[in-house]
Amino acid sequence: MQTFTLKTWLKEAGIQIGQASIVHAAASTSITDTPTAAPGEHHPVSVLNEWTQQGRIDGVDWQVEASGPSHAPAFTATATAHPAGTERPVSAQGSGASKAAVRAAAAGIAGTRRGLGRKNVAARGLPWDSLGMQIRAAMMNDLTALMELFQAIELAEIGRAGTTEADIRQILITPGLDLERRSCVYEKDDDIVGFAALHPAPHADRLRAHLGVSPVASGSLADALLRQIEEWAHKQTAAAGRERESVTLFQMPQALATPALHDHGWRVVRRYSRLTIDVNGERPSLPRLPAGTEIRIAACDDDRRRLHAVLEKALSGHWNHHRRPFEEFWADQQQRDGHDPSLWWIAEVEETPAAVLIARSQPDRGWIAWLGTEQRYRGRGLARCLLLTAFAELKARGHHMVGVDVDSANDTNATGVYEAAGMRVLGQADQWQRDITIS
Ligand SMILES: CC(C)(COP(=O)(O)OP(=O)(O)OC[C@H]1O[C@@H](n2cnc3c(N)ncnc32)[C@H](O)[C@@H]1OP(=O)(O)O)[C@@H](O)C(=O)NCCC(=O)NCCS
Repeated sequence: MQTFTLKTWLKEAGIQIGQASIVHAAASTSITDTPTAAPGEHHPVSVLNEWTQQGRIDGVDWQVEASGPSHAPAFTATATAHPAGTERPVSAQGSGASKAAVRAAAAGIAGTRRGLGRKNVAARGLPWDSLGMQIRAAMMNDLTALMELFQAIELAEIGRAGTTEADIRQILITPGLDLERRSCVYEKDDDIVGFAALHPAPHADRLRAHLGVSPVASGSLADALLRQIEEWAHKQTAAAGRERESVTLFQMPQALATPALHDHGWRVVRRYSRLTIDVNGERPSLPRLPAGTEIRIAACDDDRRRLHAVLEKALSGHWNHHRRPFEEFWADQQQRDGHDPSLWWIAEVEETPAAVLIARSQPDRGWIAWLGTEQRYRGRGLARCLLLTAFAELKARGHHMVGVDVDSANDTNATGVYEAAGMRVLGQADQWQRDITIS
């Protein structure tokens, strides 16, 4: 798998970053790259103006040129910013069909120059955690840096790090997550020290947030990120024409962000366990299936509909379960990292679908996404057989590790079923919730 650090990406994009000083690098963009600002969010030109007021840069010089015929002019804008206290300016160029758009493009590019003003803000004695950080939207190229951030958090909170790039990828490609408008990273000295994102949860009346605060950052960063999440949630709720919505996010128990979460009115509503198994290690052998039982792949559309029907019945009454029509469920599954319909199994008893499992094959691990047995078929080992079948297939596909997240308070003892199939608890996470009300 190919991964890039942000630094590599910027270099490839022709943007050079100096370790101790800002290196001038010209870059240009076409109108298709124009950074946009959502209503109420910061427009790139306003950002440069704000930075001037804050003393991070000593002003911006603008040069806008027009070319082409008068009925279809083409504009080129060059923004040259002067980082406070340095001699070398940083400049960027945007071109397109309107003056406003090319100014925004140029300003946006100048704004991505990391280090712009940062060292000088520190030199002026201003606190780094209010002004000395770069804030921007998250990008797919941040996979490694974000994984490192979450691993640093885990090390500080529980003494070991388990977050993988697959975990981060899963977040960044979540259906409905608009990275440009609903995510942000805070950077300091080329490291990402804070991350927040918000997107719709699979249930219509829910929003899901993500929060990562470096253990070396101060509490005010957690505070800023939570404020950002709440602001996005308000906008999203209002835009959907709703009066009330719940936002949830996950943190490890005893998270460093706990005081900030309490201060912002969040509360823990549930605890989840992550279990994993090394499928190359020892695992229970596949038991002989009870007579009349068969496990097969849900190979066609009809099979997948049957699978979904069993899952809905198995999960009905389950905490936080919301019924979804098959079409909605299928559309959602197709967008999931590692989605593969050849990893959808049905256990049939006397040709009646009784238990089902959906696994995924992600780049660096296998994942158990769904497991359910209809009430009347429980306690016969069907879930265990499905799990062991999935482990064998994922191993055959080259996976070492297979994981699952399970509600610790599951009243059907799902954790026990996973443990009986050889999985072990790796860690736990608390689900925090905050209700957003539009007054
Ligand atoms: C969790 C769930 C999938 C288990 O399904 P199941 O087919 O009943 O699971 P199994 O039969 O393999 O195991 C259930 C129990 O039966 C026992 N068992 C297994 N084989 C058995 C057999 N041949 N005879 C009797 N008992 C058996 C297991 O040891 C297990 O005991 P435990 O609860 O003490 O651990 C099912 O209860 C369910 O659908 N729950 C609701 C949905 C859910 O919670 N899914 C998991 C979300 S993460």
